[in-house]
Amino acid sequence: MVTHDGPGRYVLFGHPVSHSWSPFIHGLFARQFDHVVDYKLRDVAPTAFRGAVLEFFVEGGAGANITLPHKSAAAEIVNDLSARAERARAVNTIIRRSSTELLGDNTDGAGLVTDLMSNLGVKISGSRLLVLGAGGAVRGVLAPLLEQEPREVCIANRTPERASKLREEFSDLGEISACGFDEVDDRPWDIVINATAASLAGEVPALPPRVIAHHTVCYDMAYGRGDTAFMRWASERGSSRSHKGWGMLVEQAAESYRLWHGVRPATRPVLDALERL
Ligand code: ATR
Repeated sequence: MVTHDGPGRYVLFGHPVSHSWSPFIHGLFARQFDHVVDYKLRDVAPTAFRGAVLEFFVEGGAGANITLPHKSAAAEIVNDLSARAERARAVNTIIRRSSTELLGDNTDGAGLVTDLMSNLGVKISGSRLLVLGAGGAVRGVLAPLLEQEPREVCIANRTPERASKLREEFSDLGEISACGFDEVDDRPWDIVINATAASLAGEVPALPPRVIAHHTVCYDMAYGRGDTAFMRWASERGSSRSHKGWGMLVEQAAESYRLWHGVRPATRPVLDALERL
């Protein structure tokens, strides 16, 4: 852990990255503690990623966040991985132990679970949980979700084989099934998490008609202004509770902040500020 005894340089590596709210969020966190934190965005192409990260830390960088498409590559660069990053095989936070000793962690799953449970009051334990998608985003959140002991987890994906592969990899952590969208059990699920990239194209996976009921909590890991296509789709099918991923974004950032500075910022004021914007 890096204690905060001076201005530290932090960077979010991504490609693209200019749309990111992370500097704003970390800026508000820092103000809660009167920390002086320099948090910048750095757009690097995949071919330049490894060199850019190593150079940043050799030059005294204090910590880094990693976003798409570099999370898997980051797991290969660090010297050590936390248990949750090892499971996810993806890193979204790098903690500097020394200029040549870097620890990779993954706070995405903790961010999602904290948002669901603490901010939105959703009970994961004992629930029937449907996860849409089988890419890196799902890999990052599966273990923390399974830790809450849902009654049943189904991973549904456009390419069913990828869902099956994830099921095999995580089956030691709980009861998981895997299928294509049209094979999803056509009864109401308690929680549906959309982790597909379909949202980015304004599309919604083609699911059977009865998977959503009034009580179904629908959570889109994507975020932006207004409701996402998935949220609108869920409301049209009768869900009384649909959410997007702002809370996950802020909670994963708070967890990164805690890893770097040893203190966890309050997230409510930051969520309120984002809502006002
Ligand atoms: P990420 O790291 O965001 O998960 P990824 O690993 O590229 O990115 O995975 C993207 C996910 O979105 C995959 O589950 C993908 O489905 P496939 O495995 O079949 O490719 C899903 N996806 C992308 N576009 C989609 C669309 N238009 N409809 C449904 N699923 C889509």
